[in-house]
Amino acid sequence: MPSRFPFPIPAGWFFVSYSDELDPGQVKTLRYFGRELILYREQSGSARLADAYCPHLGAHLGHGGVVDGDRLRCPFHGWQFDGSGRCAEVPYAERVPSTAKLETWPVVERNGFILTWHHPTGAPPFFEIPELDHFQNPDWTPYDRYEWEIASCCQEIFENSADGAHFRYVHGTRTTPATEYEVIGYRMLTRSRMKMPTPRGPIDGGIDGDVYGPGYGVFRFTGIIETLLINLITPIDEEHVEFRYAISVNNRGDESNARGVGRAITADLVKQTSEDIPIWENKLHLETPLLCPEEAPIAMWRKHMRQFYP
Ligand code: FES
Ligand SMILES: [Fe+2]
Repeated sequence: MPSRFPFPIPAGWFFVSYSDELDPGQVKTLRYFGRELILYREQSGSARLADAYCPHLGAHLGHGGVVDGDRLRCPFHGWQFDGSGRCAEVPYAERVPSTAKLETWPVVERNGFILTWHHPTGAPPFFEIPELDHFQNPDWTPYDRYEWEIASCCQEIFENSADGAHFRYVHGTRTTPATEYEVIGYRMLTRSRMKMPTPRGPIDGGIDGDVYGPGYGVFRFTGIIETLLINLITPIDEEHVEFRYAISVNNRGDESNARGVGRAITADLVKQTSEDIPIWENKLHLETPLLCPEEAPIAMWRKHMRQFYP
């Protein structure tokens, strides 16, 4: 079977864990970017992501590796690695081999997420993920968390936001929302305005999207109640991703109202995702699709994405 997608795993920042799901001293095993990885938190608080296999004799550090202060100790022969991956100690040898180094990955913590930088050639980050003011703000609810594993890739999934016509046919919306698209460097911005149905009649609503590279998108819903959806996509390999929603609602001092409206918005997003998944999991990426003039944003998205495949 030929590959359904003609591109490698792109460059970008990608979710590897929620910050509050990794305690100091904890070691987790992950499988992303076609690699076996470990994620751990030093006792002093920094999160670290590294290749899972010890450079000494190949033990898997996620099976018995121990965080000792700010070092990670291999279960096989006790070699110790610092946060940069450098071997700091071989307990039974006078000298540490100078080339002993565990491969480590850049990590940042932003808005309650641990994110790592992936680049197909190993180049350093060329953009950043900004802090959002809702995070740890008492006016906003803690994240509601949803996740799926999907046989698709980042580019195909975010292309959905640039595909206005599918809303009517896949999601059954009565009209196609009027949407403006803009590319600013590594960001793709979308602004949609629509009528939102409420028990007291339709009201003006909107969705403002801000997608940072191939793996991280922030969508702000206004209208009934302000809701923030953070869409996180992490490649497992070239043809599979983990797809997440982290949803926070502005409670305007009225938590039960926010919870109710937030739940309705969330239920709709989750419904839409379940409608998109069978399309994503079975479609091909056509390099020269038959786009109508109305579908220019899809071409714009594809051109924008090229910068993430260096
Ligand atoms: S394999 Fe890790 S210390 Fe030997
Ligand atoms: Fe969709």
